[in-house]
Amino acid sequence: MGHPPDGSQLALFSASQREQAGKPELLGALADSAHACRACSLRAGCRSVVFGEGDPHARLLLVGEGPGQVEDEQARPFVGPAGQLLDRILLAAGFRREEVFITNVVMCRPPGNRVPLPEEVAACRPWLERKLAIIHPEIILCLGALALHTLVEPGLAVGRARGRWLQRDGSLVLATYHPAAVLRDPGKRRPVWEDFCLVRSRYLESARG
Ligand code: URA
Repeated sequence: MGHPPDGSQLALFSASQREQAGKPELLGALADSAHACRACSLRAGCRSVVFGEGDPHARLLLVGEGPGQVEDEQARPFVGPAGQLLDRILLAAGFRREEVFITNVVMCRPPGNRVPLPEEVAACRPWLERKLAIIHPEIILCLGALALHTLVEPGLAVGRARGRWLQRDGSLVLATYHPAAVLRDPGKRRPVWEDFCLVRSRYLESARG
């Protein structure tokens, strides 16, 4: 049984090990324990725990909703149709997929790709919080409403939040529409592109110090 970590417990590391362990080791250990998680009923109905992937030192972290069918089959986030669109947008904005970190609010595929239930989000939240605490990215990009509601403010509409920087535990947060929403509604292409351009210019600005 995997234990969602609380603040005192990165159970696999003693305090001194924790100080010495780097982000890759901490994230690897977290992924190992996440694979044994049974904190909600989603795990029983899916094939994989999709922990997330990318650079443990990423300065930009993207958070989606939850794995779909292709993600569940491959145990990787954003590799289905929405992921292919995300790859194209990232590349066009100047990001290599390997230099960012990509994850989701929930790690297990909800049946029929429904939106995760509040209790499923609550069960997965400690894992997401630990990922954020370890990576501590400069910028968090919320892809869609569930990420925005989970990380910033329940009920806040993406259409109202997008385009302006928010703050969370020392990270800058921006919200944009989910790539799947862009696939359904091409009218969302332009605002999403504008949001990625905002992310890119902030990313380059902070690299210059
Ligand atoms: N949609 C998501 O929110 N996440 C994925 O990983 C894939 C599709």
